[in-house]
Amino acid sequence: MLWGGRFKKKFADEGMEFSSSLNFDINLLDEDIEVSIAHTKMLAKCDLLTGTEEKKIIEGLRKILEESKNGFWFPDAGEFEDIHSAVESRLLELIGDVAKKLHTGRSRNDQVVTGFRLWLKKAINQLINEIIDLQKILLAVSEKHTETIIPGYTHLQRAQPVSLAFHFLAYMEMFERDKKRLKFVFEECDTLPLGSGALAGSTLPLDREYSAEILGFSKISANAMDSVSDRDFAIDFLNSCNIGMMHLSRIAEEIILWVTQEWNFLKIGDEFTTGSSLMPQKKNPDLLELIRGKSGRTFGNYLSLITMMKGLPLSYNRDMQEDKEPVFDSFIQYSKSLKIFSKILQSLQIDNKRFLKELDGNFILATDMAEWLVLQGIPFRDAHKIVGKLVFFAEEKQIKLKEVKQEDLLKIHPLFADKNVKKILSIENALSRKKTYGSPNPSIVKKEIKKWKKVLYNK
Ligand code: ARG
Repeated sequence: MLWGGRFKKKFADEGMEFSSSLNFDINLLDEDIEVSIAHTKMLAKCDLLTGTEEKKIIEGLRKILEESKNGFWFPDAGEFEDIHSAVESRLLELIGDVAKKLHTGRSRNDQVVTGFRLWLKKAINQLINEIIDLQKILLAVSEKHTETIIPGYTHLQRAQPVSLAFHFLAYMEMFERDKKRLKFVFEECDTLPLGSGALAGSTLPLDREYSAEILGFSKISANAMDSVSDRDFAIDFLNSCNIGMMHLSRIAEEIILWVTQEWNFLKIGDEFTTGSSLMPQKKNPDLLELIRGKSGRTFGNYLSLITMMKGLPLSYNRDMQEDKEPVFDSFIQYSKSLKIFSKILQSLQIDNKRFLKELDGNFILATDMAEWLVLQGIPFRDAHKIVGKLVFFAEEKQIKLKEVKQEDLLKIHPLFADKNVKKILSIENALSRKKTYGSPNPSIVKKEIKKWKKVLYNK
């Protein structure tokens, strides 16, 4: 127990059981030891520890880590409030009274949040690398499908033709923003709170810059009260997980639709689909559904942390111990989702020709036709109306636009006498007619792919 002095009775077992965070903050063991080693070095540099004391404490801390890795030390949540007190108590057992000097000039309030920030910096780097891995796979698949024509949708109604590569590159942009957001959160985490004490700093001559240097923080926090009570960086992190999961959920949803019999556009590798215990014919995209489902869970984590924080007076309050589980959980769910999604993406079997016939000469090219009329000098609003009439006519007759007879075309507008009209209705060159940057013109998309290669492979 870290605080026995002014109490007559021992803390209730139920109280310990209720309040211990050990079962989850054991995740912070590596970082806690790292922080303590840095703190020890700093104390020695400031002459608050002798060289021998410093050596003994650091050896003891390293031993604890080793014991834990080898399964020789597993602290019990019934005994310790958190991993930080468990480590200190083990240190006392291992090296004796000198261990009592480790907590000089620090409080668990600044200690906890320092370890947490360190942990997050590592977690963020891992997530960024996992997003890059996913982007590389997405790019490889896209590269093969710059000419694979699919319907693009708005309102889930067929709108204009695009290519699968173009569709996937839309997600590439999202994933890139996800990385950007995480990099921002990394910067937010990269401030050292250690040396803030419980809330008001210390009368001891601590060298906070030195601790920052050892732990690899680029700056130190400016206000001790804020340092121990700020969890903005964790909320930002959870929001980054949210947006990332929302993107994964959307692409998962699209693939779920595409593998239905109704779309029948692609197949997921057997190794990533599941069967039904009842219906022998079924092949289900469970893993994608779970990615979609887990986004709900990470949104909940965000909400739980921001709600926990909203009524807290300065500075540290024990409520804040509730910050860790949502963060650990969102990290695990997001990381696992990224990894499994990459594998699924690699396993896709895509039917390149699936939409070719169906879209050829069809209503999906109506906008192109209206734009062709504009080039012949018709104001766009009139062109829109003319093609609208044509669509109405074809729909009534239940034929494609390209099947409307010449005489009927002429009845709708004399300009349709031009033979080039039919060319507009060919799906094959629908994409290459696009002129604007940011459109699915295969030559533009190929340039984009080159750009992404540079971004992802630095070449
Ligand atoms: N386990 C707590 C947490 O994670 C640390 C306790 C810090 N301080 C205290 N005064 N109880 O937030």
